[in-house]
Amino acid sequence: MIGIYFSGTGNSKYAAELFCKELDKESGTYSIENEEAITAIKDADLVVIAYPVQFSTVPKIMRDYVTDHSELWKNKKVFVIATMGLFSGDGAGMLGRLLQSYGAKVIGGLHLKMPDSIADEKALKRPIEKNKELVKQAQQKIKESVKRLKAGDPTQEGIGVLYRMAGFFGQRAYFGHNTRRYSSKLKIDTDKCVGCGSCEKLCPMKNITIKDQKAVSGDRCTMCYRCINKCPKQAITLLGKRVVEQCGIEKYI
Ligand SMILES: Cc1cc2nc3c(=O)[nH]c(=O)nc-3n(C[C@H](O)[C@H](O)[C@H](O)COP(=O)(O)O)c2cc1C
Ligand code: SF4
Ligand code: SF4
Repeated sequence: MIGIYFSGTGNSKYAAELFCKELDKESGTYSIENEEAITAIKDADLVVIAYPVQFSTVPKIMRDYVTDHSELWKNKKVFVIATMGLFSGDGAGMLGRLLQSYGAKVIGGLHLKMPDSIADEKALKRPIEKNKELVKQAQQKIKESVKRLKAGDPTQEGIGVLYRMAGFFGQRAYFGHNTRRYSSKLKIDTDKCVGCGSCEKLCPMKNITIKDQKAVSGDRCTMCYRCINKCPKQAITLLGKRVVEQCGIEKYI
């Protein structure tokens, strides 16, 4: 078995790596940004897939990855992990159904509440101790879920009709349209930007370029919040107007 993930601020990477290590010490875990992931998926009997929920659905970069490599999933066993700041309804089910449409066998799902990655909104911000506690709880949940998978009774969080209704009526009906396309709404404050190039290097979509020593955004943002959380000058925003708090899993483990 192997793990793959997409992760903006490290939560989903952390979850995928811990889950896979608990399940099989020898297993590898790959970012979908790493080309080696494709060969690893081809060779694996079971693929654990982790990603961050966005508006109760799957980030566009992850949906596109699954669709662009649709031939990989036929008869492949998959276990889906969705990480989230608060609630997603059927986070794991959303990707599970897409994978199923390409012939995958979804054997289970897991939902993990983790630190909120939206750096420019106050709504879900918690004290650092609370975030550390959340990560500990997620660790525990991962270990229990792996135990159940090993015992042949995998957790089914986010999979099934009731979860689907919760995801749709709880959120997707109102905000789901936000992830239909890549976004052109990233804002870069040119007064604050010092042209360090960090955002350009970090962006998984190559959506940012440096021109005349200032960062410029295109229209292919997958809203992962990686650049926003890492900009040393707090010059980048997306949903909100100013950066409230920058986060990253390394602060909480
Ligand atoms: C654009 C965006 C939308 C989000 N929507 C939700 C949501 O609908 N429900 C939720 O609980 N968390 C939501 N979150 C929070 C993330 O899912 C959560 O912090 C996740 O664990 C981040 O994982 P990562 O570090 O792997 O990127 C959202 C985050 C972003 C950036
Ligand atoms: S990381 Fe921030 S300061 Fe550096 S180039 Fe990007 S926007 Fe400018
Ligand atoms: S521009 Fe920033 S938020 Fe958008 S995809 Fe790139 S790194 Fe992620």
